[in-house]
Amino acid sequence: MKAAIYRSYGPPEVLNIEDIEPPALQEEHEGRVLIQVHYASVNPFDYLHRKGYFPIRLVNGLFAPKEQIQRLGIDVAGTIAAIGKNVTRFKVGDPIFGNCVGSHAEYVRARENAICMLPNSITFKEAAAIPTAALTALQALRDVAKIEKNQKVLINGASGGVGHFAVQIARFYEADVTAVCSTTNLKWVKDLGANTMIDYTKEDFTRNGEKYDIILDVAATHTYFKCKDSLTRSGVYITENPLKPVYRPFQILFSSITGDKRGKSHLSLPNDKDMAFLRELIEHGQLRPMIEKVYPLDRIVDAHRHVENGHTQGKVVVEIQKG
Ligand SMILES: NC(=O)c1ccc[n+]([C@@H]2O[C@H](COP(=O)([O-])OP(=O)(O)OC[C@H]3O[C@@H](n4cnc5c(N)ncnc54)[C@H](OP(=O)(O)O)[C@@H]3O)[C@@H](O)[C@H]2O)c1
Repeated sequence: MKAAIYRSYGPPEVLNIEDIEPPALQEEHEGRVLIQVHYASVNPFDYLHRKGYFPIRLVNGLFAPKEQIQRLGIDVAGTIAAIGKNVTRFKVGDPIFGNCVGSHAEYVRARENAICMLPNSITFKEAAAIPTAALTALQALRDVAKIEKNQKVLINGASGGVGHFAVQIARFYEADVTAVCSTTNLKWVKDLGANTMIDYTKEDFTRNGEKYDIILDVAATHTYFKCKDSLTRSGVYITENPLKPVYRPFQILFSSITGDKRGKSHLSLPNDKDMAFLRELIEHGQLRPMIEKVYPLDRIVDAHRHVENGHTQGKVVVEIQKG
């Protein structure tokens, strides 16, 4: 099968399209399915792994990736091609979307409990844009910040993958949403339901005198210390900075010394319950993806460059095999 792979850390050009063996479903792959991939999306996860971002190197190999062939892609929309032992929720031919590792390829293996049936109201292309970014927004707002009706919620980086879903999910919980993005994105982000817009090229939200119950710093252009005066006394600041694992011990130490527990981070966890929740939102027209551009798999290098630029409007999607 055709797959985008890399063998060393580096710029987008280390990626190549190669013919490799498709993943198999063997005895040990209980609860797994094989998916024929139609579309996948590109996340910061992909370029951070490809570049060999420091915290990732600690796990994946300090100077070079431990595994000889590295595959990327953590979102998938496709058709079930085969099912492994003890799979109960899917059959061959089912259209699905969800999380996996290695979807920038014609076939990928996934856990049954990380995927969900495709919503009737959207296409494979749209579905591929949703899983990781929307799960991250959902789990940050609902599970970490415990979002409530009428709370004042600020999303910094509201026009990106996670941010544009966070705006819609916060509105679903009937929060009063302030969305922060650059001038060119103000209109379409407002149309997602944001109550107030802030153009970060003209105004610094940490200096406007407002207090927020939740600040979701998706763009991670601020720090907890810069934002803490903009939080209510019981407010929560959540960073999506990829250095989260490194910050965590400092956060715990800071909280235990000062008693201030308002600075938080988290890692999203794929699971079928949350995927089903997102599916409901999609079916009821309460969540929709904004897709800026679709690249064919052959142009994976351009797709990485696009996302790494840090100014994606919504999501970038890769077309693998049209479904
Ligand atoms: N917790 C998890 O498990 C998890 C999962 C997914 C992602 N993440 C992390 O979340 C972060 C965002 O991911 P993403 O997929 O949303 O990225 P993305 O799609 O690349 O979006 C980045 C956004 O940041 C905005 N931005 C850039 N500079 C800004 C500034 N100075 N002020 C405000 N906004 C600014 C950009 O908007 P403009 O074009 O308007 O500047 C762009 O829309 C990444 O660090 C990623 O690693 C974490």
